[in-house]
Amino acid sequence: MSVPTHGNYHGYYLKRLSVTDPRLALLPENTFTGKRVLDIGCNEGWVTCEIAQAWGAYKVVGVDIDDTLIRAAWKRRQLVWSLQEPLSSQTNGLENSKELDDSSSTRGNSTGMTQLQLDYFPASLQHSFGPLPIPPSSIRGKHAFPHNVSFRTADWTREEIVENVDGYDVVVAFSITKWIHLNGGDDGLRAFFRRVHAVLKLGGLFILEPQEWDTYKKAKRLNESLRSTAQTLKLRPNDFESILKGIGFSPAQHAGITGEGGFRRTVDLYVKEAS
Ligand SMILES: C[S@@+](CC[C@H](N)C(=O)[O-])C[C@H]1O[C@@H](n2cnc3c(N)ncnc32)[C@H](O)[C@@H]1O
Repeated sequence: MSVPTHGNYHGYYLKRLSVTDPRLALLPENTFTGKRVLDIGCNEGWVTCEIAQAWGAYKVVGVDIDDTLIRAAWKRRQLVWSLQEPLSSQTNGLENSKELDDSSSTRGNSTGMTQLQLDYFPASLQHSFGPLPIPPSSIRGKHAFPHNVSFRTADWTREEIVENVDGYDVVVAFSITKWIHLNGGDDGLRAFFRRVHAVLKLGGLFILEPQEWDTYKKAKRLNESLRSTAQTLKLRPNDFESILKGIGFSPAQHAGITGEGGFRRTVDLYVKEAS
C-alpha cells in the first residue's frame, strides 16, 4: 500500500514524538486494569503495547488493515520488552509464577507485584546486541506483558477476528474515524459504530478520538475514490455523539484535548448502556 488511503502511515509515531501517549494520559488510572481491550487501527502498536505493559490490561489485541504495520507492531512488542527491567532483578520469576499468572493487575504492572521500570535498559543495547528473547508464558503468565498483547491484520470494518467472539471491556479507536468515513462513507461509519457496540460487553467503554472535519480536506486528495466519497458525506464529527447515543451508548464524557498542531484532538468516552 504505497498511498496511505487508510491513514496507514509508516513512521507515524516518530511524528507524534512522545514516548508515552498523551491521549492515554487523559484516562482514569484503572481504565484498562484487568480488561480485555481492542485497539482498532493500531498502526505500529505503540499505544497497544503501552496499554498492555503499563496499564495492567488482561489482554490487548491490536488490529490494522496494513500487514507491514502489523509486522512492525510485533517488533515494537519485542523492543518494549527488551527495554523493561528484568523480573529477576526484583524477584525470582519462577518462584512467583503462580502469583503472576492471571492475577488482577495494577497500572504500571500487570502482575500486581512491585512495579517494574519500563525504561531500565537503554535503546542502544538493543541496537548493538539485538532484542532480548521473550520467555515462555509459563514464567510470568499469559496475562503479563508481553504475552498479554497480540496483533492481527484485518480490515476490522469487514472482517471478523477471533477475539471478537469473547467480546471486549474496552475498545480504543484513536485517529481512525476519518479513514473509515472516507473509505466507507456515512453508511460505513455508522456500521463501524454499530460493530463496536456489538463487540463491547454491557457496561464496556468505547474510547474515541475522532479527527476534526477540517483535516478531511487534505486526506481526500490522496486518491479519486476518497475524493468522490467525500462529496457524499453528510455526517460530521460533531454528529458522532448523537449517532452513538442512538445505537445504545451513553452521552460522551470528554476526557480532554491533547496533541500538538494537526494532532490536537478530543478524546471522548462512551459507555455501552443498552444491547
Ligand atoms: C492515523 S493512524 C492512527 C494510529 C493509531 N490508532 C493512533 O492513533 O496512534 C490510522 C490507522 O488505522 C488503520 N486503519 C484504517 N482503516 C482500518 C480498517 N478498516 N481496519 C483496520 N485498520 C484500519 C490504518 O492502517 C492506520 O494504521
